Amino acid sequence: MIPGDGIGREVTPQAVKVIQAATATTKRPIEFVEFDWGADKYLREGISLPAGAVEMLRDEFDAVLFGALGDPRVPSNQHAADILLGLRFKLDLYVNARPVELLHDRLTPLRDRTEKDIRLMVIRENTEGLYVGVGGFFKKDTADEIAVQEDVNSRKGVERIIRYAFEYARQNGLKRVCMSDKSNAMTFAHDLWQRVFKTVRQEYADIDSRHLYIDTLAMEIVRDPRQFDVIVTCNLFGDIISDLGAQLAGGLGLAPSANIHPGETSLFEPVHGSAPNIAGKGIANPLGSVLASAMMLEYLGWKPEAGALRNAVRAALRQNYVTPDLGGDKHTVEVGDWLAKEAVTNFVAQT
Ligand code: NAD
Ligand code: IPM
Ligand code: MN
Repeated sequence: MIPGDGIGREVTPQAVKVIQAATATTKRPIEFVEFDWGADKYLREGISLPAGAVEMLRDEFDAVLFGALGDPRVPSNQHAADILLGLRFKLDLYVNARPVELLHDRLTPLRDRTEKDIRLMVIRENTEGLYVGVGGFFKKDTADEIAVQEDVNSRKGVERIIRYAFEYARQNGLKRVCMSDKSNAMTFAHDLWQRVFKTVRQEYADIDSRHLYIDTLAMEIVRDPRQFDVIVTCNLFGDIISDLGAQLAGGLGLAPSANIHPGETSLFEPVHGSAPNIAGKGIANPLGSVLASAMMLEYLGWKPEAGALRNAVRAALRQNYVTPDLGGDKHTVEVGDWLAKEAVTNFVAQT
């Protein structure tokens, strides 16, 4: 576990507690090792991602449970770039799977929409695009300054994420894949997306596939989210559309994500950041981290435990045993304790 900064340090221990409750019940062996990588260490020692960290995680661990990074004392956000983007890139976690699932009708801001209407998966490319950090300044801090940020898209990178989206749809009995880009303006980078999409979709005649420009997708997903099962898009657009999606399903406090390289050590985290505006108050919603943990357990092949976590979250929402962002009055730790008990009760009820 890498709790990180801010509310990452508050929600991650709650998720670990719930995982431990569920896995203890089924006697699954699971061992957590905690790493203190984050702003404090960076400011104290100048170390963001320690030397050898990537190899260690890859060779000695099955999964990483991540909190969030970001601290007002590090305005450059350099440590977050090194640690979070560093792990995404260096572990080659090319899939960022961000489910948008309404778990209780009252949580959506959309009028007349219910649980059955809001259930889709955003598959975000996670290793390329505008995130690679290629670029530079020219005449910095002068009136003639120029800043360049390159959008890097490889054929292999685009192909593997689009293919993953189709495979995800097929394996989950979903019928529709929507690829979203901005090829009308980004005439090189997203022309490549267009061409690759047209080739790959031919292999998936059983899936109904279509394309929407990202601006239209942002509009359509709000107008009628029922249209979508799987959305695949580039790194930056995936970042934005997943926050939009999160809000349709109750907000950032609830949204989970999985950074995956199939078959390899992968990283699981809530979609939200370190939320400095509420950090230290004990009111951060731990449900996003718990749902990310469910994705992690499922990735490890532990379906019953993953189900117990999800059921516990649903029960908390039903009974309104939630933090203030969802309209409740409970504290982070209270919700964590409640979920841990509920996860166990769940199994007892099943057996
Ligand atoms: P944020 O996600 O931290 O917060 C956005 C808003 O949502 C805030 O009002 C916050 O209070 C609320 N919120 C977020 N998570 C919540 C939770 N679990 N419970 C209750 N409310 C919650 O985004 P931001 O404010 O734009 O960014 C803050 C810092 O986090 C920045 O440094 C940013 O770079 C970083 N960040 C990191 C990650 C990550 O580590 N994966 C993701 C997003 C932002
Ligand atoms: C996310 C975050 C990160 C991203 C930031 C912290 C670099 O917003 O995980 O969604 O943009 O990928
Ligand atoms: Mn984001």
